[in-house]
Amino acid sequence: MSNSDKYPVLMRLMHWTVGLLILGIIGAGWYMVGLEDSVSYKYDIYHWHKSFGVLVIFLLFARLVIRWASKVPKLPDSMPAYQRKLGTLVHWLLYLFMFLVPVSGYLMSDAGGRDVPLFNLVMPSFLEKNQDLASFFHEVHHTIPYILLGIVVLHTLAAIKHRYFDKPEHDVLRRML
Ligand code: HEM
Ligand code: HEM
Repeated sequence: MSNSDKYPVLMRLMHWTVGLLILGIIGAGWYMVGLEDSVSYKYDIYHWHKSFGVLVIFLLFARLVIRWASKVPKLPDSMPAYQRKLGTLVHWLLYLFMFLVPVSGYLMSDAGGRDVPLFNLVMPSFLEKNQDLASFFHEVHHTIPYILLGIVVLHTLAAIKHRYFDKPEHDVLRRML
């Protein structure tokens, strides 16, 4: 397999960095909401959760620009058409949820009248304080990170299937490593 069959190195770096970040942020989110208010570091975790979450929004835009400017390898022609379509659909669903999840968190905090941190900076506010809107985004942010996680599990199972249970030329994981 020639080098041009691989994803460009910047895209591979972005894929694994953002993937690990997202999994860490989901784990932290799940953990922190279960902590008692009396736990001293609870709101430190909130701070890091929000800051890394906002970072994901910036990385997503950078990633889409890099994708647009790079040559992305085509899926093998020998792969059944339905698998190629499903793969592409799942990738775009991942991008959509990578946007909706942090943005719903941002808008929940913003509508709740809380500052949105980016480490030691404060992000701009876009919404007036509005408890109904904050509750709506809270409901959304309580649900969609787990939908994203479900899609990631499917995506990972597909990569494993193509690597270990398909023809060697269908091993798309090699293109991302
Ligand atoms: C990729 C980015 C993000 C992911 C994957 C993510 C994921 C999660 C998850 C899994 C939870 C726990 C939900 C639950 O079980 O109730 C959570 C809670 C929370 N997230 Fe995020 N989040 C992200 C970004 C953000 C951002 C950018 C903010 C705000 C600026 C934010 C603010 C919050 C807050 C305040 C909670 C706690 C809500 C509560 O106390 O019930 N998140 N997040
Ligand atoms: C939070 C975790 C992850 C996210 C958000 C994610 C997201 C994505 C996205 C959006 C793409 C499409 C790239 C593009 O063409 O623009 C992609 C490709 C890919 N991902 Fe992931 N991914 C995650 C984790 C994983 C894991 C754990 C594996 C495997 C063990 C994996 C394997 C792959 C492979 C092999 C491709 C390339 C498929 C191809 O050649 O077309 N990903 N991923």
